[in-house]
Amino acid sequence: MFLTQLTLSNFRQFEVFQLKPSSGFNFIFGANGSGKSSLLEAIYVLSMGRSFRSSQLTPLIRHHVTEFQVIGTWQNAYARQFTVGVGRQMQLSDIRLDGQAIRSLRDLVSLVPVQLINHDCFHLVDAGPQGRRAFLDWGVFHSELSFFSAWQRYQRALKQRNAGLKRNLPFAELNLWQQELLSQAETIHALRSQYFENFLPHVERVLTELLALDKLTVEYYPGWDVGMSLPAVFIKDYERDCFLGHTQHGPHRADIKIRVNGIDADHILSRGQQKLLSYALLLAQSECLKLFTGKDSVLLIDDLAAELDREKIQQVLQLLQKLKCQVFITGVDESLVLAATKAIDLSMFHVEQLG
Ligand SMILES: Nc1ncnc2c1ncn2[C@@H]1O[C@H](COP(=O)(O)OP(=O)(O)O)[C@@H](O)[C@H]1O
Ligand SMILES: [Mg+2]
Repeated sequence: MFLTQLTLSNFRQFEVFQLKPSSGFNFIFGANGSGKSSLLEAIYVLSMGRSFRSSQLTPLIRHHVTEFQVIGTWQNAYARQFTVGVGRQMQLSDIRLDGQAIRSLRDLVSLVPVQLINHDCFHLVDAGPQGRRAFLDWGVFHSELSFFSAWQRYQRALKQRNAGLKRNLPFAELNLWQQELLSQAETIHALRSQYFENFLPHVERVLTELLALDKLTVEYYPGWDVGMSLPAVFIKDYERDCFLGHTQHGPHRADIKIRVNGIDADHILSRGQQKLLSYALLLAQSECLKLFTGKDSVLLIDDLAAELDREKIQQVLQLLQKLKCQVFITGVDESLVLAATKAIDLSMFHVEQLG
């Protein structure tokens, strides 16, 4: 899937803005505050129905007006086109696919797999498990149809079990929710671990290309000690779960453990290396998606050159070139990035100059 046309009205600082992107590389250059991140944000909103900079859509409405609209046309590999429109008035969102209001955000999100790479992608390495879990689930969600409903049912049952724990219900009385919880946990774990097993060789290869670090390991952690079955963990944990008022172990605690020589990577790697590690994870994920499902992802890369030297910029561009996905890359200084495109013989791309 790739974006063939984008129109913004009253979105952030853009009163009216139109873009006709290339199906490959799109570079967006401009000074600070010229609207580069806002443009990526608009594409993100078009594919996710939400922003990555704000939990609400209202701040995205241009100052002094009451409504924004983002309209885009996506084209799939069979040249079929889909028009998506996302609009927000003060209290009301309107999301349409080919003119029809969508029933659930899931219909929108599953249409275009979009990955954002910005300064926050460090969190894949240096923050808690939540980001890495979301990263893993992005891949599983787009590859396995059954994942989403299992995850939703698991969350519902988890809430109920936690409510029961807070009331100190006896273990037997928790059973109704526990059965559902365990059954969905089994599905989630099976899908995640299968996906991860297929994903791992790809991430290892990309890591070798980008980082070449000895003794770096990437492992899936399901959310409990795999030496024990989850039902046995629930029995063992019961008293402490009651004391804490929540379920300590289960797929809601899953993680991808990234270590160097057995130590968490964020304690060992430089910022630049952490950034490359995040790039490796994200690029390998897009590569897997294409391989496992035939779907092309769209990559939004905010400030590619930040913290990367010229050689690394070239390597990242080369990996992106092999992916053959649509990419939007922003930057303040065009010279570094454009020099890298020359060095790797990248000749077909679109450049948008803002400001
Ligand atoms: N709702 C809004 N209405 C008008 N301008 C806005 C709005 N939200 C942000 N801006 C302006 O947009 C600019 C930020 O744009 P941004 O996309 O972050 O720039 P860049 O990524 O190129 O540095 C700032 O000047 C900010 O004041
Ligand atoms: Mg920016």
